[in-house]
Amino acid sequence: MNEREKNGPLLDNGEDSERVLIVDDDPSMRTALLETVKRLGYSAQAAIDGSDALERLVRFRPWLVLTDLRMPRLSGLDLIKEIRSRSPQVTIVLMTAYGTIETAVEAMKLGASEYLLKPFSMDLLERTIVSLKAGREEGLPAVPLAQSTESRAILTQDPGMVRLLSTIEGVAASQATVLIHGESGTGKELLARFIHARSPRAHRPFIAVNCAALPEGLLESELFGHERGAFTGALIRKIGKFEMAHTGTLLLDEISEMNLPLQAKLLRVLQEREVDRIGGRDPVPVNIRVVATTNRALYRDVEQGRFREDLYYRLNVFPITVPPLRERAIDIPLLAKHFVAQSASRNGLTPSTVSESALAHLQRLAWKGNVRELENVMERAVLLAGDGPILPEHCPSEMPSEPLGLPLRSQQPTNGSLWEMERELIFKTLARVKDNRTHAAKELGISIRTLRNKLREYRESERPLSIPSQ
Ligand SMILES: Nc1ncnc2c1ncn2[C@@H]1O[C@H](COP(=O)(O)OP(=O)(O)OP(=O)(O)O)[C@@H](O)[C@H]1O
Ligand SMILES: [Mg+2]
Repeated sequence: MNEREKNGPLLDNGEDSERVLIVDDDPSMRTALLETVKRLGYSAQAAIDGSDALERLVRFRPWLVLTDLRMPRLSGLDLIKEIRSRSPQVTIVLMTAYGTIETAVEAMKLGASEYLLKPFSMDLLERTIVSLKAGREEGLPAVPLAQSTESRAILTQDPGMVRLLSTIEGVAASQATVLIHGESGTGKELLARFIHARSPRAHRPFIAVNCAALPEGLLESELFGHERGAFTGALIRKIGKFEMAHTGTLLLDEISEMNLPLQAKLLRVLQEREVDRIGGRDPVPVNIRVVATTNRALYRDVEQGRFREDLYYRLNVFPITVPPLRERAIDIPLLAKHFVAQSASRNGLTPSTVSESALAHLQRLAWKGNVRELENVMERAVLLAGDGPILPEHCPSEMPSEPLGLPLRSQQPTNGSLWEMERELIFKTLARVKDNRTHAAKELGISIRTLRNKLREYRESERPLSIPSQ
């Protein structure tokens, strides 16, 4: 059982996650705050000072406490200390008019997640709450502790990877934009989270956007948000991911899949550090650290006019290339055993041993789907092996070693051919994941773009009359 399970779920279920406690000795401030918080859809209570707050904390059980600094009886800082010792999972925001940076730093040390300098606009308050909430939903702990990275340890014995990790630790501390390049399943997202976890933003939101998963129009409103009535169907105002990531880190996953018009808008955000909500009047300032990933060589896309050169240079401030698994075969046994242990513990089984012959076999496979494929293979192996040790036959590679890598149309679509088998595999996978292409691509260990190309190829091969002869 991990820490989180022991202390009950981090994300309170049901009503708890809907309650906000406001603590301020100024009645007009209390009223304004109550109004804003309720407008966001939370149920709220207000306490007139720290002791009142502690009593309400027990009965009301809020997920968020917004507290003033200077109050009679119990100060804001003392209140934060008290709350932390009693309810470690509560998110705390300190509001202070006496905003010296020292107080804010002190508050953060005591466990506040954020501070707001009075006077602040209700709009800023709203954005702060939205981004803190998003951070919680991403599973970030309310208290900035390094433990959160423990369960997602990056395992490696490969000297190149070790060097890479230490370089990354260095850059994590800075604000620099990082571009992570690597084949599918090599651990790009894991590294992006590592960068965030080792950065001064560790306890702020980490927001991930998969640029390949959404149709173009939706991606734009997902990123930028929109005002109510901005377009047909925009019934409520939506806060975009840029704003949710405010003060934290934004992961732009599969950035190469973003279309050119959206690339131009992204460039503007990165240059101006402000976001234009769709249908909004004034730009909204954002403070974000961007990490982008790609499984394609982006500069080639630049050469081919598919990716903006100026955006490329903006993103490529600190480029990282994650080597494919087959180039660090030394990690295969280590990772294989790790995944066996993980899957066994998830299924409540005693971990099987992995035989030497299986380890040797694993080191010979091509691992086109890289670490993710290894994870899937070992998970299956645990089930196939039952009580005995894991043997080579329990670990078939998921990936046919040839067909997916071959260029399009290089094979004849004859019955029983590799081409056929590949097509069948793709359709079966799509059916299993209910046509979610991102999931299918992940399972297959290919990029979403390759998947799209393959599907287009199949469609075309079903309309033989319309295909030109070559
Ligand atoms: N070095 C590692 N140690 C432990 N687990 C790893 C390591 N590298 C990758 N993984 C695991 O492998 C899986 C795939 O990693 P991740 O999602 O980060 O890859 P990715 O490069 O983002 O893949 P894709 O391009 O398909 O999005 C995850 O479950 C991740 O936790
Ligand atoms: Mg990824």
